[in-house]
Amino acid sequence: MRKRVLLTHPLFEEIHKKLSSHFELEIGIEGREDLLRKIQDKDGLLCFLKDPVDREVIERGKNLKVIANYAVGYDNIDLRAAKERGIIVTNTPDLLTDATADLTWALILAVSRRIVPAHLFTVEGKFKGWEARLFLGKDLQGKRLGIVGMGRIGKAVARRARGFSMEVVYYSRRRLKPREEAELCVRYLPLDELLESSDVVSIHVPLTEETENLINRERILKMKRGSILINTARGPVIDEEALIERLREGSLFGAGLDVYRGEPNINPEFFKLENVVLLPHIGSATEETRLAMAHLAADNIIAVLNGRPPLTPVWR
Ligand code: NAP
Ligand code: GLV
Ligand code: GLV
Repeated sequence: MRKRVLLTHPLFEEIHKKLSSHFELEIGIEGREDLLRKIQDKDGLLCFLKDPVDREVIERGKNLKVIANYAVGYDNIDLRAAKERGIIVTNTPDLLTDATADLTWALILAVSRRIVPAHLFTVEGKFKGWEARLFLGKDLQGKRLGIVGMGRIGKAVARRARGFSMEVVYYSRRRLKPREEAELCVRYLPLDELLESSDVVSIHVPLTEETENLINRERILKMKRGSILINTARGPVIDEEALIERLREGSLFGAGLDVYRGEPNINPEFFKLENVVLLPHIGSATEETRLAMAHLAADNIIAVLNGRPPLTPVWR
Protein backbone atom coordinates (compact mmCIF):
# COMPACT_ATOMS: atom_id res chain seq x y z
CA MET A 1 0.00 0.00 0.00
CA ARG A 2 1.22 3.51 -0.78
CA LYS A 3 2.26 5.48 2.27
CA ARG A 4 0.18 8.48 3.25
CA VAL A 5 1.47 12.01 3.67
CA LEU A 6 -0.32 15.09 4.99
CA LEU A 7 0.80 18.52 3.80
CA THR A 8 -0.90 21.02 6.11
CA HIS A 9 -1.14 23.88 3.55
CA PRO A 10 -0.60 24.13 -0.21
CA LEU A 11 3.03 24.71 -1.27
CA PHE A 12 4.11 24.67 -4.93
CA GLU A 13 2.60 22.57 -7.76
CA GLU A 14 5.93 20.85 -8.44
CA ILE A 15 6.19 19.83 -4.78
CA HIS A 16 2.65 18.44 -4.79
CA LYS A 17 3.55 16.42 -7.91
CA LYS A 18 6.79 15.20 -6.40
CA LEU A 19 5.12 13.99 -3.20
CA SER A 20 2.17 12.51 -5.11
CA SER A 21 4.53 10.43 -7.25
CA HIS A 22 5.63 8.62 -4.08
CA PHE A 23 2.68 8.81 -1.73
CA GLU A 24 -1.01 9.20 -1.24
CA LEU A 25 -0.95 12.97 -0.62
CA GLU A 26 -3.57 14.93 1.27
CA ILE A 27 -3.27 18.72 1.21
CA GLY A 28 -4.76 21.19 3.67
CA ILE A 29 -6.16 21.30 7.18
CA GLU A 30 -9.03 23.38 8.52
CA GLY A 31 -7.72 24.09 12.00
CA ARG A 32 -6.57 21.91 14.82
CA GLU A 33 -9.49 19.49 15.03
CA ASP A 34 -9.01 18.69 11.37
CA LEU A 35 -5.27 18.12 11.91
CA LEU A 36 -6.05 15.76 14.80
CA ARG A 37 -8.40 13.84 12.50
CA LYS A 38 -6.23 13.80 9.39
CA ILE A 39 -2.99 12.81 11.16
CA GLN A 40 -4.46 9.47 12.32
CA ASP A 41 -3.64 7.42 9.22
CA LYS A 42 -0.56 9.35 7.98
CA ASP A 43 3.02 8.08 7.76
CA GLY A 44 4.49 11.51 7.10
CA LEU A 45 3.62 15.11 7.99
CA LEU A 46 4.89 18.20 6.19
CA CYS A 47 3.90 21.19 8.31
CA PHE A 48 4.36 24.95 8.65
CA LEU A 49 5.83 26.80 11.62
CA LYS A 50 2.34 28.11 12.44
CA ASP A 51 1.03 24.56 12.98
CA PRO A 52 1.43 23.50 16.61
CA VAL A 53 2.51 19.85 16.45
CA ASP A 54 2.19 19.09 20.13
CA ARG A 55 2.01 15.84 22.09
CA GLU A 56 -1.67 15.30 21.33
CA VAL A 57 -1.15 15.64 17.58
CA ILE A 58 1.91 13.38 17.68
CA GLU A 59 0.16 10.70 19.73
CA ARG A 60 -2.81 10.69 17.34
CA GLY A 61 -0.43 9.88 14.50
CA LYS A 62 -0.22 6.19 15.20
CA ASN A 63 1.67 5.48 11.95
CA LEU A 64 3.70 8.67 11.93
CA LYS A 65 7.41 8.19 11.10
CA VAL A 66 8.53 11.63 9.99
CA ILE A 67 7.61 15.26 10.63
CA ALA A 68 9.21 17.66 8.16
CA ASN A 69 8.92 21.28 9.28
CA TYR A 70 8.86 23.83 6.46
CA ALA A 71 11.19 26.11 8.46
CA VAL A 72 14.55 26.04 10.18
CA GLY A 73 13.02 26.85 13.59
CA TYR A 74 11.09 23.96 15.14
CA ASP A 75 9.70 25.42 18.35
CA ASN A 76 6.19 24.52 17.10
CA ILE A 77 6.98 20.80 17.46
CA ASP A 78 7.10 18.82 20.71
CA LEU A 79 10.46 17.16 20.13
CA ARG A 80 10.30 15.10 23.30
CA ALA A 81 6.98 13.54 22.28
CA ALA A 82 8.35 12.82 18.78
CA LYS A 83 11.54 11.28 20.15
CA GLU A 84 9.64 9.06 22.57
CA ARG A 85 7.72 7.58 19.65
CA GLY A 86 10.78 7.22 17.41
CA ILE A 87 9.50 9.83 14.98
CA ILE A 88 12.14 11.70 12.99
CA VAL A 89 11.84 15.50 12.86
CA THR A 90 13.51 17.49 10.09
CA ASN A 91 13.90 21.21 9.34
CA THR A 92 15.29 23.35 6.50
CA PRO A 93 18.65 24.78 7.65
CA ASP A 94 21.26 26.64 5.56
CA LEU A 95 19.34 27.33 2.40
CA LEU A 96 17.32 30.13 4.01
CA THR A 97 20.28 31.68 5.80
CA ASP A 98 21.10 34.33 3.17
CA ALA A 99 17.48 35.33 2.56
CA THR A 100 16.92 35.80 6.29
CA ALA A 101 20.18 37.69 6.77
CA ASP A 102 19.20 39.96 3.85
CA LEU A 103 15.83 40.66 5.44
CA THR A 104 17.57 41.45 8.73
CA TRP A 105 19.66 44.03 6.92
CA ALA A 106 16.58 45.37 5.14
CA LEU A 107 15.15 46.03 8.62
CA ILE A 108 18.39 47.56 9.93
CA LEU A 109 18.49 49.97 6.99
CA ALA A 110 14.76 50.67 7.02
CA VAL A 111 14.78 51.56 10.72
CA SER A 112 18.05 53.50 10.75
CA ARG A 113 17.06 55.60 7.70
CA ARG A 114 13.33 55.85 8.50
CA ILE A 115 12.42 54.43 5.10
CA VAL A 116 8.78 53.58 5.83
CA PRO A 117 7.63 56.97 7.19
CA ALA A 118 9.67 58.72 4.51
CA HIS A 119 7.95 56.66 1.82
CA LEU A 120 4.51 57.41 3.25
CA PHE A 121 5.36 61.13 3.43
CA THR A 122 6.39 61.05 -0.22
CA VAL A 123 3.36 59.20 -1.58
CA GLU A 124 1.08 61.45 0.46
CA GLY A 125 2.40 64.35 -1.61
CA LYS A 126 4.14 66.05 1.31
CA PHE A 127 7.57 66.39 -0.29
CA LYS A 128 7.86 70.11 -0.99
CA GLY A 129 11.60 70.37 -1.50
CA TRP A 130 14.94 69.31 -0.06
CA GLU A 131 15.26 70.06 3.64
CA ALA A 132 18.30 70.00 5.88
CA ARG A 133 16.53 68.06 8.62
CA LEU A 134 14.01 65.96 6.69
CA PHE A 135 13.85 62.38 8.07
CA LEU A 136 17.21 62.39 9.77
CA GLY A 137 18.31 58.85 10.55
CA LYS A 138 21.38 57.28 12.10
CA ASP A 139 24.72 56.46 10.48
CA LEU A 140 25.78 52.82 10.59
CA GLN A 141 29.47 53.23 9.78
CA GLY A 142 31.71 52.99 12.79
CA LYS A 143 28.80 51.91 15.00
CA ARG A 144 28.56 48.66 16.90
CA LEU A 145 26.30 45.79 15.82
CA GLY A 146 25.53 43.25 18.57
CA ILE A 147 24.44 39.82 17.38
CA VAL A 148 22.64 37.61 19.89
CA GLY A 149 22.91 33.99 18.72
CA MET A 150 25.93 33.49 16.46
CA GLY A 151 24.66 30.58 14.41
CA ARG A 152 24.12 30.27 10.67
CA ILE A 153 21.99 33.42 10.30
CA GLY A 154 23.91 35.41 12.92
CA LYS A 155 27.16 34.76 11.02
CA ALA A 156 25.59 35.74 7.69
CA VAL A 157 24.40 39.00 9.27
CA ALA A 158 27.92 39.57 10.63
CA ARG A 159 29.50 39.05 7.19
CA ARG A 160 27.25 41.68 5.67
CA ALA A 161 28.16 44.16 8.42
CA ARG A 162 31.66 44.54 6.96
CA GLY A 163 30.14 46.13 3.88
CA PHE A 164 28.63 48.78 6.16
CA SER A 165 31.86 49.34 8.12
CA MET A 166 30.31 48.33 11.42
CA GLU A 167 32.11 46.81 14.38
CA VAL A 168 30.53 43.46 15.27
CA VAL A 169 30.24 41.92 18.72
CA TYR A 170 28.29 38.77 19.53
CA TYR A 171 26.87 36.67 22.32
CA SER A 172 26.14 32.91 22.14
CA ARG A 173 26.23 30.16 24.74
CA ARG A 174 29.46 28.95 23.22
CA ARG A 175 32.23 31.13 21.90
CA LEU A 176 33.45 30.62 18.35
CA LYS A 177 36.98 29.35 17.82
CA PRO A 178 39.54 32.19 17.72
CA ARG A 179 40.17 31.50 14.03
CA GLU A 180 36.49 31.82 13.22
CA GLU A 181 36.21 35.03 15.25
CA ALA A 182 39.13 36.41 13.27
CA GLU A 183 37.67 35.35 9.92
CA LEU A 184 34.33 36.97 10.72
CA CYS A 185 35.95 40.01 12.40
CA VAL A 186 33.76 39.58 15.48
CA ARG A 187 34.41 39.81 19.18
CA TYR A 188 32.61 37.97 22.00
CA LEU A 189 30.85 39.97 24.73
CA PRO A 190 28.67 38.83 27.63
CA LEU A 191 25.00 39.52 26.85
CA ASP A 192 24.49 42.44 29.22
CA GLU A 193 27.64 44.18 28.00
CA LEU A 194 26.54 43.66 24.41
CA LEU A 195 23.14 45.22 25.12
CA GLU A 196 24.61 48.18 26.99
CA SER A 197 27.10 49.05 24.28
CA SER A 198 25.58 48.14 20.88
CA ASP A 199 24.02 50.69 18.54
CA VAL A 200 22.10 47.96 16.74
CA VAL A 201 21.12 44.69 18.43
CA SER A 202 19.93 41.81 16.24
CA ILE A 203 18.42 38.62 17.65
CA HIS A 204 19.22 35.24 16.03
CA VAL A 205 18.70 32.59 18.73
CA PRO A 206 16.16 29.79 18.29
CA LEU A 207 13.14 29.84 20.62
CA THR A 208 13.78 27.34 23.43
CA GLU A 209 13.01 27.14 27.15
CA GLU A 210 16.31 28.97 27.71
CA THR A 211 15.79 31.76 25.20
CA GLU A 212 12.13 32.52 25.93
CA ASN A 213 12.24 36.03 27.40
CA LEU A 214 16.04 36.11 27.09
CA ILE A 215 15.75 39.80 26.23
CA ASN A 216 13.53 40.52 29.24
CA ARG A 217 12.45 43.88 30.66
CA GLU A 218 15.63 44.34 32.64
CA ARG A 219 17.72 43.75 29.53
CA ILE A 220 15.55 45.95 27.31
CA LEU A 221 16.12 48.69 29.91
CA LYS A 222 19.86 48.10 29.64
CA MET A 223 19.94 48.80 25.92
CA LYS A 224 21.90 51.87 24.94
CA ARG A 225 20.02 55.13 24.52
CA GLY A 226 19.28 55.78 20.84
CA SER A 227 19.93 52.19 19.78
CA ILE A 228 17.93 49.93 17.47
CA LEU A 229 16.54 46.45 18.12
CA ILE A 230 15.93 43.99 15.30
CA ASN A 231 14.15 40.66 15.79
CA THR A 232 13.89 38.16 12.97
CA ALA A 233 14.17 35.13 15.30
CA ARG A 234 11.01 34.46 17.35
CA GLY A 235 8.70 36.88 19.18
CA PRO A 236 8.79 35.30 22.66
CA VAL A 237 12.55 35.89 22.90
CA ILE A 238 11.92 39.56 23.73
CA ASP A 239 9.71 41.43 26.21
CA GLU A 240 7.47 43.35 23.83
CA GLU A 241 5.84 45.49 26.55
CA ALA A 242 9.20 46.84 27.70
CA LEU A 243 10.25 47.38 24.10
CA ILE A 244 7.07 49.35 23.38
CA GLU A 245 7.71 51.56 26.43
CA ARG A 246 11.24 52.40 25.33
CA LEU A 247 10.12 53.08 21.78
CA ARG A 248 7.25 55.26 22.94
CA GLU A 249 9.44 57.42 25.15
CA GLY A 250 11.99 57.64 22.33
CA SER A 251 14.90 56.29 24.35
CA LEU A 252 15.40 53.63 21.67
CA PHE A 253 15.73 54.99 18.13
CA GLY A 254 13.60 52.25 16.63
CA ALA A 255 12.85 48.57 16.15
CA GLY A 256 12.44 46.26 13.20
CA LEU A 257 10.35 43.15 13.79
CA ASP A 258 9.47 40.20 11.60
CA VAL A 259 8.15 37.99 14.43
CA TYR A 260 5.80 38.48 17.40
CA ARG A 261 4.68 36.84 20.59
CA GLY A 262 1.36 35.14 19.76
CA GLU A 263 1.58 35.91 16.02
CA PRO A 264 -0.32 36.45 13.81
CA ASN A 265 -1.79 38.61 16.58
CA ILE A 266 0.37 41.67 17.17
CA ASN A 267 0.28 43.94 20.20
CA PRO A 268 -1.70 46.91 18.74
CA GLU A 269 0.51 49.36 20.65
CA PHE A 270 3.17 48.70 17.99
CA PHE A 271 0.83 50.14 15.34
CA LYS A 272 0.80 53.51 17.08
CA LEU A 273 4.57 53.94 16.87
CA GLU A 274 6.33 55.73 14.03
CA ASN A 275 9.75 54.29 14.88
CA VAL A 276 9.00 50.65 14.10
CA VAL A 277 9.04 48.62 10.92
CA LEU A 278 6.74 45.62 11.22
CA LEU A 279 6.81 42.71 8.79
CA PRO A 280 4.57 39.61 8.57
CA HIS A 281 7.21 36.91 9.22
CA ILE A 282 8.81 36.98 5.77
CA GLY A 283 12.46 36.29 6.68
CA SER A 284 12.91 33.44 4.21
CA ALA A 285 10.31 34.67 1.74
CA THR A 286 12.02 34.75 -1.63
CA GLU A 287 10.83 32.65 -4.57
CA GLU A 288 14.13 30.78 -4.78
CA THR A 289 14.50 30.12 -1.08
CA ARG A 290 10.93 29.02 -0.41
CA LEU A 291 11.06 26.60 -3.36
CA ALA A 292 14.39 25.15 -2.21
CA MET A 293 13.00 24.75 1.32
CA ALA A 294 9.96 22.95 -0.05
CA HIS A 295 12.14 20.52 -2.01
CA LEU A 296 14.24 19.84 1.07
CA ALA A 297 11.20 19.22 3.28
CA ALA A 298 9.69 16.89 0.65
CA ASP A 299 13.03 15.09 0.15
CA ASN A 300 13.27 14.50 3.90
CA ILE A 301 9.87 12.79 3.85
CA ILE A 302 10.73 10.79 0.72
CA ALA A 303 14.02 9.62 2.27
CA VAL A 304 12.57 8.52 5.60
CA LEU A 305 9.48 6.81 4.18
CA ASN A 306 11.71 4.93 1.73
CA GLY A 307 13.94 3.66 4.53
CA ARG A 308 16.81 6.09 4.02
CA PRO A 309 18.27 8.51 6.58
CA PRO A 310 16.79 12.01 6.62
CA LEU A 311 18.82 14.76 4.95
CA THR A 312 18.43 17.38 7.69
CA PRO A 313 17.22 15.85 10.97
CA VAL A 314 17.02 18.26 13.90
CA TRP A 315 18.95 15.80 16.04
CA ARG A 316 21.38 13.01 15.10
P1 NAP B 1 21.39 28.15 14.38
O1 NAP B 1 22.42 28.00 13.34
O2 NAP B 1 21.04 27.00 15.23
O3 NAP B 1 21.82 29.41 15.29
C1 NAP B 1 21.28 29.69 16.53
C2 NAP B 1 22.37 30.18 17.44
O4 NAP B 1 21.80 30.54 18.69
C3 NAP B 1 23.42 29.11 17.71
O5 NAP B 1 24.65 29.64 17.32
C4 NAP B 1 23.37 28.89 19.20
O6 NAP B 1 24.71 28.86 19.63
C5 NAP B 1 22.67 30.12 19.74
N1 NAP B 1 21.91 29.81 20.95
C6 NAP B 1 21.06 28.77 21.17
N2 NAP B 1 20.57 28.81 22.41
C7 NAP B 1 21.14 29.89 23.00
C8 NAP B 1 21.04 30.45 24.29
N3 NAP B 1 20.27 29.90 25.22
N4 NAP B 1 21.75 31.57 24.54
C9 NAP B 1 22.53 32.12 23.61
N5 NAP B 1 22.67 31.63 22.37
C10 NAP B 1 21.98 30.53 22.06
O7 NAP B 1 20.02 28.63 13.74
P2 NAP B 1 19.80 29.59 12.47
O8 NAP B 1 19.67 28.78 11.25
O9 NAP B 1 20.79 30.69 12.50
O10 NAP B 1 18.33 30.16 12.82
C11 NAP B 1 18.12 30.88 14.01
C12 NAP B 1 16.64 31.11 14.25
O11 NAP B 1 16.17 32.12 13.36
C13 NAP B 1 15.73 29.92 13.97
O12 NAP B 1 15.68 29.03 15.06
C14 NAP B 1 14.40 30.58 13.71
O13 NAP B 1 13.66 30.68 14.92
C15 NAP B 1 14.77 31.97 13.23
N6 NAP B 1 14.43 32.18 11.80
C16 NAP B 1 13.50 33.11 11.48
C17 NAP B 1 13.22 33.35 10.15
C18 NAP B 1 12.19 34.36 9.76
O14 NAP B 1 11.47 34.13 8.80
N7 NAP B 1 12.10 35.49 10.44
C19 NAP B 1 13.86 32.62 9.15
C20 NAP B 1 14.80 31.68 9.52
C21 NAP B 1 15.09 31.47 10.85
P3 NAP B 1 25.19 28.12 20.94
O15 NAP B 1 24.46 26.80 20.96
O16 NAP B 1 26.64 28.06 20.85
O17 NAP B 1 24.74 29.04 22.04
C1 GLV C 1 11.27 30.80 9.86
O1 GLV C 1 10.91 31.50 10.77
C2 GLV C 1 12.04 29.61 10.04
O2 GLV C 1 12.30 29.23 11.19
O3 GLV C 1 12.40 29.01 9.01
C1 GLV D 1 22.25 65.41 -1.90
O1 GLV D 1 21.52 65.02 -2.81
C2 GLV D 1 23.57 65.94 -2.11
O2 GLV D 1 23.97 66.16 -3.28
O3 GLV D 1 24.25 66.13 -1.09
